[in-house]
Amino acid sequence: MTSDSELLKLAHSVCENAYAPYSKFKVGACALYESGKYYLGCNVENASFGLSLCAERNAISSAIANGEKSKLMKIAIVSDNTSFCFPCGACRQWFSEFCHDDFEVIVEDDQKAPKSFRMSDILPNSFKL
Ligand code: THU
Repeated sequence: MTSDSELLKLAHSVCENAYAPYSKFKVGACALYESGKYYLGCNVENASFGLSLCAERNAISSAIANGEKSKLMKIAIVSDNTSFCFPCGACRQWFSEFCHDDFEVIVEDDQKAPKSFRMSDILPNSFKL
């Protein structure tokens, strides 16, 4: 099992690849699935700002493209710019589509230590069809 610290480390490694020339705010995400596999994503910006993609959704898209069918258990999110790099609302809704009941969001605190948050705390009453 991959530890929360390892997930954060992996998120930092992909954060280096982020394409963020406009905001200069690089984000990296590592999505861990029930299968034990993990997938990485970074943000990718565009001159047409609204087209920018978040790191979290890129990681989840990579999982889907690679045929992942199990539930999303954890996602570690980091930025070199800040501690407590919380996911945006759109990414929270994406998590709700794929996540396990025990899903956790892992972010780094000021000491670079992992802090975890439950879905029910960060997106209560999420929209479901
Ligand atoms: N960003 C993410 O990658 N994930 C989030 O959850 C929030 C924001 C990116 C998008 C944009 O490239 C930059 O951070 C600044 O908003």
